Amino acid sequence: MPVVRDVDATSSDCDDCPIATDRRRFFRDAALALAGTLVALGATRRVALALPVELIHPGRRTDHTVTYPVPTADGAQIDRDNQVIIVRWQNVGYAFNLSCPHQNTALRWDDADRRFQCPKHHSKYQPDGTFISGRATRSMDRLGIRLESTSLIVDLDQFYRQDKEPEQWKSAFVTLTA
Ligand code: FES
Repeated sequence: MPVVRDVDATSSDCDDCPIATDRRRFFRDAALALAGTLVALGATRRVALALPVELIHPGRRTDHTVTYPVPTADGAQIDRDNQVIIVRWQNVGYAFNLSCPHQNTALRWDDADRRFQCPKHHSKYQPDGTFISGRATRSMDRLGIRLESTSLIVDLDQFYRQDKEPEQWKSAFVTLTA
């Protein structure tokens, strides 16, 4: 089953209209072109992206699970195709929905400040998804996650909102070895 995400029907944004889509595609392509140039000039892939985050693709996908290698260093990785953020932070692994819980804007990882930030209304979140400040009214939405050998298995059907499923939200992490 696909992940169910909130859609704000009252939003005046035209997130899905063709012009907005073309514009997003243009800016994404421009950003990736810039990143490619920086990589060619010797910058690392992580540094080259506008906000330093690693784009990843799952190793395997089933009807409702996606599999990723366990990250080897602290930070965030984004799988845009499945709208999943994978975080390794202080030997704990998390999976988050990519969308900001306020109005579904794609979140960004700010490597300098070591936190997530929403580009739309600037809500901020800790690496474990905990809400810090901004217009959002809850922490980042977590997905079910389990560890199998050297892989993280994320269950897209296990979608936990901190305000509605606080216990499941708190338990949605895996402990990783140092
Ligand atoms: S959409 Fe993220 S704070 Fe409003």
